[in-house]
This record gives sequence, C-alpha cells and structure tokens, in this order.
Amino acid sequence: MNIQEIRDLKTKRKSTWITCYDYPSALIASKTNIDGVLIGDSLAMTVYGHDSTLTATTQMIAQHTKAVAKGLKGYHKHIVADLPFLTYQGSFDRLLKHVTLLMQSGAHSLKLEGADESILKHIQKLTQNGVPIMGHLGLTPQSIHTIGGYKVQGKTQSQYIKILNDAKKLEQAGCFCLVLECVPDKLANEITNSLEIPTIGIGAGSGTDGQILVWHDLLGYPSEHKPKFVRSFMNTQQEATAAIEAYINQIQNIQFPLPSESYKI
Ligand code: KIV
Repeated sequence: MNIQEIRDLKTKRKSTWITCYDYPSALIASKTNIDGVLIGDSLAMTVYGHDSTLTATTQMIAQHTKAVAKGLKGYHKHIVADLPFLTYQGSFDRLLKHVTLLMQSGAHSLKLEGADESILKHIQKLTQNGVPIMGHLGLTPQSIHTIGGYKVQGKTQSQYIKILNDAKKLEQAGCFCLVLECVPDKLANEITNSLEIPTIGIGAGSGTDGQILVWHDLLGYPSEHKPKFVRSFMNTQQEATAAIEAYINQIQNIQFPLPSESYKI
C-alpha cells in the first residue's frame, strides 16, 4: 500500500497497523488484511529484552526490515521503519546515511518522533527527496528520560496545546501520516479532525483514523507491564507453554516421534 492509498483511507475506513520484526511474522501478516507494518524501535524491548527503545540501532532495524520485506514481498502492505534514537537530531548529511540504509533495506517510509524546528526542516527535505515520513507525537519513547516515564501526555492545557500545534507543524512539514501514542481521546480526536493527513492511534482512543499495536502485545506474549490500552487477541504465552509441555510429555511417553514420522531403511 502506498502513501497516497493510506492518505485516501482517511475518508473511507480505519487503517490497521501492527509492528512486525521478522520473516515468519511477516509471512503471517502477509495473509491478513492488515494495511501496514512497522519495524519499530520497540524491537529493542520486545525482541532483544532491553529496558527501553534507546538501544535500537539503524543496523538492527535495517536487518529486521530486510527480513520483514522478504516475508511481505508481493503483498500489498505498507512497510514503515523507525529512525532510531539520535539519528535525526544532527546534520542532514549524517541523517541521510541512516535513511539510505533503512530505505535500501525495504522500507517504504520512515517514522520519527517529535516536532522540534530542526526535525521539521529534516522532514521537509526528506519528503522533497522521495522519503515519506510518518510523525509520532504524545508519548515518544525515545524521550523517556525527559518525559520521566511511560505516562499519558497532553493532559495539562499547555501539553495539550503543544501537541495539537506540533501535529499541525508535522503536517505542514510534509508528513503523510501521524502516530499518536498515549494521549487523551479528546486530544486525539481534535488532532484527527484538524488534519488532512490520517492519524494512527495507540492508547489514543477510538477516534483516530487507524490503530496500531505491538505484535507481542496483540498476540499475548509474556510482558512485565501491560498498559491499559493493550488488548491481547490471543494468549501466546499460555498456548506456546502448553504446546511445549505436550511435546515434552509425548517424548517421555514414546508417543513422539511415531513410526510415520521416522525414516526406514
Ligand atoms: O516502536 C514502536 O513499536 C512504535 C509504536 C508503538 C507506534 O513506535
């Protein structure tokens, strides 16, 4: 799905997104009606078990983007990759090296967090040079140490107004889409109604133009902390544990492998 098709969905139906980090998961996603996948810097936490997203590197995200792009080859899915922590705060030349690696790994667009003046300038240049950019406001996990924790953003009047204004600035700078993470639904609705580009919510209520969830949350993998906005649509932890226990049992009871699962001379 290209960025024009994603923009057009705003007036037609909700867009649907999920994070995706590897080839087998991409094969599963390819057979669903999901519109797009994000190779998020959340992989530092979900896949590598780190404490925050700050340790995700461009090389890491590029490797995972290649695997996901391979699994989605031939399917009509949008692939967006995250620009990692501190890759877009410096010079444009430095940023281009990260952008080139991610786009050449198979991303169709890139996502970055925040709307500082320098970031807006980078977005303008990137979009003019054929790199579609998805914005990300509200709880921006790359600023976790400034925000002071994974908590709802935009509850105070000043925060509310800043996020609303930042959203407008990101649209003006050329973003084709905007992720709103962990903001009150009233703010998400106001942004969604003020912008022509679509919004994608995660912990932002049901009024956004689309929704995204992290793969491991949606499928119920083990996690230490489950935010209020996460709904698991299956319990992988329970089902995978039961499957492994059944495997162990059947080995012990000589029920696995069966003669039909063995080779004869
Ligand atoms: O990295 C990520 O998974 C994200 C989503 C939470 C939007 O940025």
